[in-house]
Amino acid sequence: MLYFLKNLIKFYVKILLKFNAKGMVFTMNIIVTGTAGFIGSKVAEYLLEKDYLVIGIDNLNDYYDVSLKLFRVNRLKKYENFIFYKGDIENKEFLEEIFKKYKIDAVINEAARAGVRASIENPYVYMTTNAIGTLNLLELMVKFDIKKFILASTSSLYAGSKMPFTEDLPVNTPISPYAASKKSAESLSYTYHYLYDIDVTIFRYFTVYGPAGRPDMSIFRFIYKILKGEPIEIYGDGTQKRDFTYIDDIARGTILGLKDLGYEIINLGSDNPYSLKDVISLIEKYTQKKAKIVYKTFHKADMKATWANIEKAKKLLSWEPKVNLEKGIEKTVNWFLENWDFIKNIKI
Ligand SMILES: NC(=O)c1ccc[n+]([C@@H]2O[C@H](COP(=O)([O-])OP(=O)(O)OC[C@H]3O[C@@H](n4cnc5c(N)ncnc54)[C@H](O)[C@@H]3O)[C@@H](O)[C@H]2O)c1
Repeated sequence: MLYFLKNLIKFYVKILLKFNAKGMVFTMNIIVTGTAGFIGSKVAEYLLEKDYLVIGIDNLNDYYDVSLKLFRVNRLKKYENFIFYKGDIENKEFLEEIFKKYKIDAVINEAARAGVRASIENPYVYMTTNAIGTLNLLELMVKFDIKKFILASTSSLYAGSKMPFTEDLPVNTPISPYAASKKSAESLSYTYHYLYDIDVTIFRYFTVYGPAGRPDMSIFRFIYKILKGEPIEIYGDGTQKRDFTYIDDIARGTILGLKDLGYEIINLGSDNPYSLKDVISLIEKYTQKKAKIVYKTFHKADMKATWANIEKAKKLLSWEPKVNLEKGIEKTVNWFLENWDFIKNIKI
């Protein structure tokens, strides 16, 4: 009887805390870290469209031009169910204030230092953000009894493995500090699932591209430079292949992971790799401009190819990509053209 009453009170408190200042009720309150980032902002947008309360956290660091991060956050601020905090996931006290304030149902961790080559120059911040930041979130989830965690991880973990990559491959030999830090975050997530029964879904994303993408990544750089008439750089001979995946497909898949799954690692990729040369041809087609290419030495920490096996995402989430590379490049080029007055001033 006492147990029943306790649960009834817990239930009503939970309902009460779901009302915002305007008296609206939300079906779920979700923390999305890295909300000013490329993927985090799109994931947040999908959740906001579903009328979830999204509490966004981002430290707006200057790894790339901050004006693009502000552009993405400003797009989200038009939703009244969006709350934004500027702050660092490495700072547990800062996070704890947020966890205290809202009754959180799930945490989606998109905040990270991303980028393989930059991780070689500054490996420490990769470990403190990607591993310790993840640990802070998991610790607070235990403290505040939050049972769903989604972690953004990467296909970079599969370096050296046989393709197409399946989730059960051993990934014990990361070839960059970035991959090593993501492996640490994955391991910690498993530990907290095992010890505290947190439902954990880890998504290994495959080279994501699309509107408002990352200026350190190839597709953004190629379109930007081709439109400006500047030479583009290719590391290697351009035959390296990536399983390029469109941003909306990634965001849609990530949200499907909010359901109870136990502990799962799931690839989100297109299962259709293309070479950089193919990508450049498509960009030339949609910009109607010819690329000037400068070839540079291939970096040892880069992968020659990636290719996702996506059977698990199909089976567990009924997910498959909807936007093929040609359509995705067309949409991305259109976004550049429509926003060129803003984009042309972004520093890359
Ligand atoms: N874009 C891809 O192709 C790709 C592929 C595989 C995995 N991922 C992973 O997906 C996630 C999102 O990547 P993205 O491409 O959107 O990158 P992004 O750099 O655009 O977004 C990451 C966001 O996290 C924020 N951030 C970084 N450190 C932080 C900290 N300590 N505290 C708070 N905020 C912090 C950044 O300011 C940024 O806005 C990352 O975990 C990344 O490793 C991305």
